[in-house]
Amino acid sequence: MEIDIFTLFPQAFDWFERQRHVANVLAAGHRLRYVNYRDHTPLAAGQVDDTPYGGGAGMLLRVDVVEAALRARYNADPVALRERRRMIALTPSGRVLDDALVDELAAEPALTLLSGRYEGFDQRVLDHFVTDQLSIGRYVLAGGELPAMVVCDAVLRKQAGALGHGDSALEESFSAALDRGPEYPHYTRPADYRGWRVPGVLLSGHHARIREWRLEQSQARARAHPDAS
Ligand code: ADE
Repeated sequence: MEIDIFTLFPQAFDWFERQRHVANVLAAGHRLRYVNYRDHTPLAAGQVDDTPYGGGAGMLLRVDVVEAALRARYNADPVALRERRRMIALTPSGRVLDDALVDELAAEPALTLLSGRYEGFDQRVLDHFVTDQLSIGRYVLAGGELPAMVVCDAVLRKQAGALGHGDSALEESFSAALDRGPEYPHYTRPADYRGWRVPGVLLSGHHARIREWRLEQSQARARAHPDAS
């Protein structure tokens, strides 16, 4: 898949691209590309933001600047573009990302992520240029770069070849295989540490019983933390 990230800080993604699962999917032919709004602004002196009409704190990314950056990348009117491409603005008040949305996005051939800075976007960007507003949680970050990395991390690790082991993403927390419930507990050696013993069923080699135990554990966790499922 191909993910385009519009940002004022493309260098913020250098570290992200070096993470092993990200490097793996990029080596497998998936692509991350960056567009810096500032490189395409039609305004003087690299201006990209402005003060809000009506007053108030903070600065907003201007709609003409966002349009110029989108046109430079896609050579198309962004109003028409959103009919054929998933265009996602990162905003604290958007739809909150969960595993079902990650699955949906991971199945797209291409995504565009728009990161904001300052107080966010002029509302007309959200009304006319995007298909989705996406939040990584109900708190406000200084910009959309970390949320964009969160989305890319979650979506890219669902691509074939991202993780070392082929099916390690299949049966993890909130996956369809676990009825969208939390993951079961995992243990590794030593089997007994300070008297804290690994549940016997996991040492039994009895695969059907292990599967049953894991599902029960996932369901018990879902009951204990209803907000986690
Ligand atoms: N931009 C600032 N805060 C954000 C959040 N919580 N989710 C998505 N984008 C954001």
